Amino acid sequence: MKVLLNEQQLANGVRRLADDVKQTYGDQPLTILGVMTGSVMLLADLVRLLAMPLRVGVVQASSYRGGMTPGQLHVDSRLMPDIAGRDVLIIDDIFDTGRTMVKLSELLHSMQPRSVRTAVLLLKDGCQKVEMRPDFVTFNIPDEFVVGYGLDYEDEYRNLPYVGVLEEEDLQRHRLRRQAER
Ligand code: IMP
Ligand code: MG
Repeated sequence: MKVLLNEQQLANGVRRLADDVKQTYGDQPLTILGVMTGSVMLLADLVRLLAMPLRVGVVQASSYRGGMTPGQLHVDSRLMPDIAGRDVLIIDDIFDTGRTMVKLSELLHSMQPRSVRTAVLLLKDGCQKVEMRPDFVTFNIPDEFVVGYGLDYEDEYRNLPYVGVLEEEDLQRHRLRRQAER
């Protein structure tokens, strides 16, 4: 697999992101909402670098139904904390077309928060299909399908400590393994 961002680069990026978040919110209470499941790594690493009074919640959104082509976007807000009157920062793994963030922002705005901002680990250059841009972008990356550090391909590879690009051999091995599982 081709490594795009190694552990050290990721750690440095998350530290920069945490500094930007501190700059913006200061000591104000903040609610961080991680978009499941892709943001788990970023969520865990980021919140440990923040010291303001912090609430952590999750919301489930899935647009890719496993593979590399997007399907219908599903949002499940049943695990979400009450955000009325609160400053909310949504965090996600990647801003691709941007449709997931737009839909989530709209949903959250309808819940009367004090403010809603968005942060992502990755932004795929040139792939956006919406006007909106995240308030915080940790890394800009080229238009390639990436996995690791929370990002999946068919629900696998989220546990990789780096962000990488699956190569043809990786895909072939993946297909064979999946066939064997059936
Ligand atoms: P968007 O709605 O097109 O911005 O897509 C955002 C969602 O698609 C992310 O939360 C990811 O789950 C998924 N996604 C987009 N690009 C990639 C990728 O390169 N690898 C893995 N997942 C991706
Ligand atoms: Mg996702």
